[in-house]
Amino acid sequence: MKALVCTQFAPFADHKVIEVDAPAIKKGHVRIAIKAAGVNFPDILMVQGEYQVKPPFPFIAGAECAGEITELGEGVTHLKLGQRVAALPGVGCFAQEAVVPANICVPISDKMSYEEAAGFVMVYATSYHALKDRSDIKPDETMLVLGAAGGVGLTAVELGTNMGLNVIAAASTQEKLDICKEYGAVHGINYVEEDLKARARELSEGGVDIVYDPVGDKFAAPALRSMAWGGRYLVIGFAAGDIPKVAFNWMLLKELDVRGIHWGAWIPRNMKNHVQNMGELMAMYEAGTIKPRVSGVHTLENFTDAMTALTERRVMGKVVLTMVS
Ligand SMILES: NC(=O)c1ccc[n+]([C@@H]2O[C@H](COP(=O)([O-])OP(=O)(O)OC[C@H]3O[C@@H](n4cnc5c(N)ncnc54)[C@H](OP(=O)(O)O)[C@@H]3O)[C@@H](O)[C@H]2O)c1
Repeated sequence: MKALVCTQFAPFADHKVIEVDAPAIKKGHVRIAIKAAGVNFPDILMVQGEYQVKPPFPFIAGAECAGEITELGEGVTHLKLGQRVAALPGVGCFAQEAVVPANICVPISDKMSYEEAAGFVMVYATSYHALKDRSDIKPDETMLVLGAAGGVGLTAVELGTNMGLNVIAAASTQEKLDICKEYGAVHGINYVEEDLKARARELSEGGVDIVYDPVGDKFAAPALRSMAWGGRYLVIGFAAGDIPKVAFNWMLLKELDVRGIHWGAWIPRNMKNHVQNMGELMAMYEAGTIKPRVSGVHTLENFTDAMTALTERRVMGKVVLTMVS
């Protein structure tokens, strides 16, 4: 099978798709014939040796995928051959086949395309966990979303709106802000051209209650300083590069909470809640209340185009790879 195999850490453009043996089936696992794989920021960090998880070499990159089950390992009874599933094993998905634990497979709706499914789990489940389990949302509160047209950002805009929040989207272009408005944002701030803190305070009429921040760097301080009394600042990630360092007195002054979100590490500690959350997200998809946005589809061989689109901030929603044999 073809796969993006990482034999050493290097800039993502230096990695290659090569021919390798398909992985062997294992007890409690299933084989998935992968149709599409979602490309996420951590995939880039991982092949470059910049992610907190460093798998032993050689490893196949790619955290999440969608496809069809073609083989059942010993003991697997709740899934069947031919079933359409999404899965997020963390590695192994930029390939034509993967063998993954059966208990992480999420059956997908017949309505959902493989491209939608491949980029669904990580971004929607992260934002749903952040908003449902970590935000203490109250009716009519205001949420500022940074990087709002990106992978996790756009799902926060959409889910937050559906949960009754007044969402202010912050992004770098008008085109991105227009997409955020389609997904429910009531206001947009172009944080490259406008003063983020001043505009967020103005639009929220005194301060935002929740900040959803997957961007970090220089955007974090003005976002934190735009908050209202008792606000919750959700630390999602640092796509802009630097991990921000903030002064504790800002939290004291307005009794702010800074809350870390580590969805991947939360799952094994809260498996029942995770399964419940995934079921609720799939039900929302079935009901048409959430609409995954795929902004780019590339072949596995052209993975660098997908990764470059992410690093150049051109992705609006998700970018995915398709597998062709
Ligand atoms: N905590 C968790 O459990 C969890 C789960 C999933 C992802 N994450 C993290 O969340 C972050 C965002 O992931 P994502 O999949 O949403 O990525 P993404 O689709 O690339 O979106 C990130 C956004 O950040 C903004 N940005 C600002 N400066 C940037 C720069 N120098 N390079 C790239 N983007 C920049 C861009 O929006 P503008 O152009 O509008 O500024 C971009 O749309 C990553 O750090 C990822 O590791 C965390």
